Formats: sequence, C-alpha cells, structure tokens
Amino acid sequence: MIKVYISRFDREVDEKPHLECYEIEKTPQMKVLDAINAINEKYDADISIRSSCRAGQCGSCGILFNGNGALACQKEIKDGAIIEPQNFPVIKDLIVDKSSIEKEVKELQLSLNPEQNNDKINENLTPENMKNTKKVRSCIECYSCLSTCPVVKFIKTKFGGPYIMRYLSKFESDPRDEFNRLDESLKEGLYKCTSCGKCKAVCPKNINTFGDAIERLREIACKENKGPLPEHLAFKENIQETGRSIKSKGPSFIEQVKNENNSKIALFTGCMVDNKLQHIGEALMDVLDANGIKIDIPEGQVCCGSPLIRTGQTDIVQELVDKNKEVFKNYDTVITICAGCGSTLKNNHPKYGSNLNVMDISEFLVDKLDTNKMKELNTSVTWHDPCHLGRGQGIKDAPRDILNQIKGIEFKEMQYPCQCCGAGGGIKAGHPEIASTLAKEKAKMIEETGAESVITICPFCQYNIQDGLNSINREDIKTMNIIELLQLAYQKD
Ligand code: FES
Repeated sequence: MIKVYISRFDREVDEKPHLECYEIEKTPQMKVLDAINAINEKYDADISIRSSCRAGQCGSCGILFNGNGALACQKEIKDGAIIEPQNFPVIKDLIVDKSSIEKEVKELQLSLNPEQNNDKINENLTPENMKNTKKVRSCIECYSCLSTCPVVKFIKTKFGGPYIMRYLSKFESDPRDEFNRLDESLKEGLYKCTSCGKCKAVCPKNINTFGDAIERLREIACKENKGPLPEHLAFKENIQETGRSIKSKGPSFIEQVKNENNSKIALFTGCMVDNKLQHIGEALMDVLDANGIKIDIPEGQVCCGSPLIRTGQTDIVQELVDKNKEVFKNYDTVITICAGCGSTLKNNHPKYGSNLNVMDISEFLVDKLDTNKMKELNTSVTWHDPCHLGRGQGIKDAPRDILNQIKGIEFKEMQYPCQCCGAGGGIKAGHPEIASTLAKEKAKMIEETGAESVITICPFCQYNIQDGLNSINREDIKTMNIIELLQLAYQKD
C-alpha cells in the first residue's frame, strides 16, 4: 500500500485547493494517471485531470509531482508523492486554465504567417537553421517547464519563461518568420533566467531550453550589441585584463600555495576560490593533507568562461578553453571546488575541443575520507543542491554520503533541496531583486528544517543563501562550504 496526496479543489465548495491523502495498492511501474484512476475507483473520489493520448505525446496531462512539472501518464507514482495542479488558475482539482499562456502565444504570433504580406515565407531553411530549430522544436506544450521555472513561480515580473523563450528561439532561427524574435525575447526578460536547468530536467522531450534557446539568444544579443546587461560587462573586462572574472585584493590562492607535487591530479581553483575565497582553498589543503592526498595546483589556469557563456559573451571563450587545456594536459584528473566551474568544464568545454577528466571535489573525496581521524562535530546540517552540481553534473548522492560520514552530524533534508537559490545565470549582478527573492524562498525552506547550518559546494550559492537567511533575520543559520565543514572535522584540538 502507498499513500498519495492529491490536491483537491471544487469551486462550488472550496475556498482554495487542499491536499487529500489516499491509500492504494501500487502495481509495478504504476503511473500517476493509473493511480488517480485507481483512487477514483476505490474511493469514488471523482478527481478531475485532463488526459488524451496516454503516451507522452499530447501534453494534456501536465501536473506537478513533488513540486516539479511532469506528465501524469509517464511519471511513476511513489509513496508519499504530492500531486498538484500546474501553476495556472485551477478550474477543478488538477485541471487548470491555460488561457493566459495561449493568449500570449497568440499575441506574439508564434506561428508562421503564410499571408501575402509575409514576404519571407518562401525563404529556405539552411542546414544551420535546421540544426538550431531541431533542438527546440519537439515541444508537446505540456507546460512542465513553465510550471517549474522558479522565476516564473516566485517572481512577479515580466518574464516569458522557458516556454516562450524556446518558442522565440525556434522562430529566431527560421528565415521564413517575419518578426524580430531577438528583440521580443529581450522584452520578455531574456536576462531573467537563472540557468538553473529545471526546464530541461522536467521536459519530457529533453529540450535544453536554457542552453539551446536562452543562452543561444543571449549570444546573438551580444553579437548584435543588444546584450549583455551593463552589470555583466565587468566579467569580460576582468577576464581580458587578468584571466579572472573577479579581481583579487591580495595574493591569489595559487600565488599563496605554490603547490607542485608531481601528482597526476590537479586542482582547477575557479575565480572565486583563487581571488576571493582563498580560505576555502586553504581548507581543501587541510582536508587533503589529513587524508594523505597530494595534488598539483598549476599556475597559468584561467576562468572557465562560465560567466561569459551564461550571459552570451562567448567570443573569448575559445581562448580560455585553450589556455586551460594546455595547463592541464598532462593530468589524469582535474578536480573542481565550484559547481559552476565543474559543470562548465564538463558540459561546455567539449564543444570547444577540450575533454579533460573532471571530477567535482565531492565525487573525488567520497570514497577517500579517513573517518578515524575525524572528530565529532555535534551539529545539525541541511544540504543545498547547487543547480550546476545536481542537474549540471548529476551529482546528488556524493555530498550527502560525505555528510553522513562526518561523526556527530545530524542531517536534516529540506523539502526541495534542488530548488534554485537564485545565484546563477548572471542574475545576482543583473537582476539582484530576483536573486534576493529566490534566496529568501530558499532561506524559509532551510529554516523549516531546524538545522544549525546549510552546507553547499558553490561559492555563489553560499553568498546568496546567506543573504537570504540574513533577510529573514536568521543570521544564526550559517551557510558553509562542505570543504570548510570537513576542515572542522579534521581540525586538531
Ligand atoms: S495523456 Fe498525452 S501526454 Fe499524457
């Protein structure tokens, strides 16, 4: 028997939607839609949901499954699952009114106009156009992306969200289209996406909207001098001047450690640890020392290019990739201590011709920690999954396994640990109001766990979440890098 929580709403009797719990027998691979049918049969519950093809093709059965968009006919039901309607006005139970988005699609004329006044209609698609549109055209209009996007959900701002951006990107690369889709995307909030990757994660057709539509449109905007936002220009200026996206006040971490051990393992420090958070680099040295691990920290390494790729300023990325490729060419493994750097090295650099063997520090350390040398910390912690670690690199278990190895740690999972904190995609610089609202949402979720600190592995998340906690007057809950926590566990009294 499993318990399933379904959102119920009948406007005749309910003021607002509420969850009701049902118990059913789960059959192997039972889908949400089957579960609802079973509940309706067993309880005579009359739960309303739209569905048609039952094959993941029509997109009509979109719901929220534990807060994330999904197709009810495809998603397997689980014990304790919370099934809610998508983020549109609810008509009844899981049926929503999608007319607002349909109206927007109509207003933007997101279809090819074969009328006589469209003198581009007979243009031919080039192979390049075909390639670009192919990546984003398999949408089945289930609105899973739109219902899951944290900016659409929490921010009351003009933002078309992943659904509209995907559509605009598709027509931008279609020469038969008669409108200026780039300008429209800028008006729709092209620079309001945090690059969290939720839209891709929930898309039943695996469309990479933030990469193949939003980052692509940002790249075109920069080429046409319509992007990035003025606040993003400093990343590129700093990189051109120093190789780093942020300036250092004192000696960089690499200058301080000068670590050459003839190891086959090298550290990619990233701009934040090298120029701003040198203490995290020092903490890593302590942890590696305690476990007898020797690494190199080669000089000459530069920014991975993440702030440029995320904001569309890609014209100097090849240069950065080539420099790093040369610096790390003789190493078997390159470890990263920033989720954003790791994700960029793994996911973006191969397109620029670099295929280093990259490991996030959590996946590198998880099976190497000497727990006998650790002391008891006697504290409670929760874990925030950085978007560029959880979704960007598919790493969720390794950091939790590390936390569970530290003695005296009480681990308290928060409700949605992978919900974006709002730090990425150039948002903190370009739209700080979005970053702070999302950080506040995350902070409230952290507060609910009762944990004494929140642990993460991304310097950008670390800053933004602490800002969020401070904004709800919970400065006492500390945000800490997992490496700093390990340093404490290995610290000698
Ligand atoms: S019923 Fe058609 S996609 Fe689920």
